[in-house]
Amino acid sequence: MKILTTLFATGFLLSAQSASASPAVDALLKVYSDAGAGPFSAKAGERMWTEKHNHAETPLERSCSTCHTSNLTDSGKHAKTQKAIKPMAPTVNAKRLTDTKEIEKWFMRNCKWTFGRECSAQEKGDFLLYIQK
Ligand code: HEC
Repeated sequence: MKILTTLFATGFLLSAQSASASPAVDALLKVYSDAGAGPFSAKAGERMWTEKHNHAETPLERSCSTCHTSNLTDSGKHAKTQKAIKPMAPTVNAKRLTDTKEIEKWFMRNCKWTFGRECSAQEKGDFLLYIQK
């Protein structure tokens, strides 16, 4: 019986993992789909990640990679405060993409700083697929 339970538990974990790398990402993708967005594309997320924007009064060209670099497995640096930012890729930083509130909070701040507006549900879904790959 114990063996059966263990087998069952292992099988469950494996199938849950193959569905997606992160339950938080799954939950957010569902929220965005329910809002009418999708299908989502890691390629689009990758393209937007380094796209330059010039919206503020300052002439600084802004992109996600300004602070996070264009390589998700590298450490970044905050463009203003110069503070180090840990790598974005969950493959090298297990804390990434684990908390829906944290993800939404930073999307809000970073999209405003970078694009001068909030990101759409489509853009956020594309970013998540790109970051988690
Ligand atoms: C001005 C610097 C800066 C820019 C530009 C920036 N970010 Fe961030 N980002 C941060 C900081 C600081 C954090 C929080 C510290 C940390 O998590 O290491 C963060 C955290 C995040 C997180 C949280 C991930 C997690 O689960 O921990 C996501 C998602 C994110 N950023 C996405 C983006 C996207 C998408 C863009 C472009 C639209 C972007 N960031 C542009 C500084 C920046």
